[in-house]
Amino acid sequence: MNFVRKTKFGAMAAISAFGCIVAFGNMALADEGEDMDDVDAAVMHVLEDYDIAIGYDYIATLMRLPNAFGEGAACVVCHTSNDPKKSPNGLDLTSCEGIKKGSVHGPMIVPGKHYEGTFRRRMRDNRMPLGVRFDVPKDMPAMQHMKQWIANGAKNDELFKTKVLPSFKDPNAYGGEQSCVECHMSNQEPPSFHELDLTSHKGVMLGADAVAKAAEGLPPVKVVIPGKPMESRLYLRVTENRMPGGIGADQSRDHPNMHVMFRWIDQGAKCN
Ligand code: HEC
Ligand code: HEC
Repeated sequence: MNFVRKTKFGAMAAISAFGCIVAFGNMALADEGEDMDDVDAAVMHVLEDYDIAIGYDYIATLMRLPNAFGEGAACVVCHTSNDPKKSPNGLDLTSCEGIKKGSVHGPMIVPGKHYEGTFRRRMRDNRMPLGVRFDVPKDMPAMQHMKQWIANGAKNDELFKTKVLPSFKDPNAYGGEQSCVECHMSNQEPPSFHELDLTSHKGVMLGADAVAKAAEGLPPVKVVIPGKPMESRLYLRVTENRMPGGIGADQSRDHPNMHVMFRWIDQGAKCN
């Protein structure tokens, strides 16, 4: 039996009473697309036009609300304690202090800067290969080889040629059902998502969105930082699950509540 689904639906049934008291609680249902739809954009404009201050009170509700950021369990179903034996990574989202303290890996938010910290990418970045199950281990051989290769300097070396490159063509190497190159095969989108080419060393090192960024006069988005696996999007994408745990890759990455939370962070993440 799938742990995630069980938790997800059990939790939703148990706490759904919260759903009706919060303005954006049901928006996920109308917001299936990849881009923010008109209604969501209009909601965000109200927050900006009136420079509305987001209080911790609303954030506390979001942490307790199922479906708050798209269809999925409430954060506090899993993140209840600073003890890593009792809650994933010792991240306690039941209090303002807990949110600001972060996990055993340090803070997940940087007050004033929602682009920094792990919260933003955990909420928006789907784990790869797209649609891979949440409970797939994060230390599969292909993941370990990728980490080692990046730590060694990400060169076009034996490890890359014999292990890393072939893993991008193997549908099962990262615990999913599709190979990376089925979706990332060239610098052209379509058909290649994010213009990311995982068919050669050159393509991997060039990074994502080379063509789109060039049109804006910007460099491509690097997905590998030689020597630094924990700063390399490529490695993070195959080892970090999008939150809430078990959320579908089809859920919008621009849910209004996510932006409300970003706004609270940008306003200094105040606890009152
Ligand atoms: C079904 C259980 C579950 C739910 C619900 C859940 N998480 Fe998680 N979360 C996990 C697990 C398990 C991990 C650690 C393993 C991983 O990365 O997948 C984690 C890790 C994290 C991390 C990374 C912490 C670190 O050490 O860097 C953040 C941030 C996070 N969750 C935030 C959230 C937020 C915000 C919500 C609500 C939107 C949420 N989680 C809901 C299970 C859950
Ligand atoms: C079914 C298609 C599909 C497969 C298979 C797939 N991806 Fe992706 N990938 C996407 C989509 C769509 C996005 C952008 C949306 C998102 O972030 O969820 C993306 C984004 C990425 C990014 C982020 C690029 C950036 O701009 O920062 C990386 C890195 C990535 N994928 C790596 C991989 C790797 C490695 C694999 C194989 C383990 C893989 N992908 C398999 C569809 C796919």
